[in-house]
Amino acid sequence: MTGTFPIAKFENIQTPFYYYDTQLLRKTLDIVKSETEKYNYKAHYAVKANANADILKIIASYGIGADCVSGNEVQAAIEAGFSPENIVFAGVGKTDREINLALNHNIFCFNAESIPELEVINELAEKKNTKARIALRINPNVDAHTHHYITTGLNENKFGINREDIDGIISLLPTLKNIELIGLHFHIGSQITDFSSFQDLCVRLNDLQNTLDNKGIKVKHINIGGGLGINYEHPNHFPIADFETYFRLFNQNLSLREGQQLHCEPGRSIIAQCGSLVTRVTYIKEGASKKFAIVDAGMTDLIRPALYQAYHRIENISSQLPEDVYDVVGPICESADVFQKDVRINKTKRGDFLVLRSAGAYGEIMAFQYNLRELPKAYLSESL
Ligand code: LLP
Repeated sequence: MTGTFPIAKFENIQTPFYYYDTQLLRKTLDIVKSETEKYNYKAHYAVKANANADILKIIASYGIGADCVSGNEVQAAIEAGFSPENIVFAGVGKTDREINLALNHNIFCFNAESIPELEVINELAEKKNTKARIALRINPNVDAHTHHYITTGLNENKFGINREDIDGIISLLPTLKNIELIGLHFHIGSQITDFSSFQDLCVRLNDLQNTLDNKGIKVKHINIGGGLGINYEHPNHFPIADFETYFRLFNQNLSLREGQQLHCEPGRSIIAQCGSLVTRVTYIKEGASKKFAIVDAGMTDLIRPALYQAYHRIENISSQLPEDVYDVVGPICESADVFQKDVRINKTKRGDFLVLRSAGAYGEIMAFQYNLRELPKAYLSESL
């Protein structure tokens, strides 16, 4: 089974390009909305997953917040219609320029990752005669059981404040007059499909909250970050991530204090399944022991397979012929420029359209121009 694609409309578009199924995006957002409303949780879309301006506008129109990791993301979110009071700003290396930009917009919250950063936010807020709301990003030391490049919540990772440093920070906070502590922030990793990692996170959070209770520290929100995984193997059967189980798990395992709200930052789970990278076969090359389908998209358009050995389902949407086995490779002068080895797809020929599925997250946004390639354009199903 292949997904449904408007091939006739693709004929006149220059490949490679990203194609977004906005009907699926809207369905996904409806579910995120209803599942979060069920428990009075608040979602902030992780802009880093896909910052396409048209996609951001659709997501913003659902009243969801934005999780940003750079000044430019804050700017893009505001331009797309996200309200500054729904914007959080994380990142280990926020520059003065970026902090000032976020202060000027009076964003909801800075997710702060170190003592020096807290001091700088305090100083810059003081100069503006304002108070910055902050959440402390704590490193919970929970193993996300995912690819090590996208694991973030272990002591060895650069992200967040280690538990041992929390006491020091708590005694420092009263001296930082231009900072208000309103939340705690966590993020253990991405593409998490083993839900026991989220359970482990709840255990750590409950434990931490008990410790903070004893110190008289109360926060208004607990932000659990992102990380909910999607099904890359079967995008047609599982087009929407399991938000229901995910939120139920937190509802059942996390003890929120009275008046405290859970916040989350889904990225991949909102946008990955909506996007495909569409490419054409340039040549079929018969090697000594292999057949290569050389396509016009490369690692510059979708780096995930080369960088994380990530799997993206490949479908030949131009052919109904019986399957054959190919290495699907790009044109870039790098041996890593392979989308998949020994993949079974309908027998293909020069000019066929192949689609790389589940590419809506960390696809278009991570494209680059090595070999002086053009960046891929993007099209939304509803405006084709
Ligand atoms: N919140 C924070 C603090 C994060 O660092 C991330 C992702 C998210 C939320 C969103 O996580 P998601 O729901 O998308 O899993 N380029 C990699 C993924 C890097 C994720 C970085 N942080 C990939 O292509 O798999």
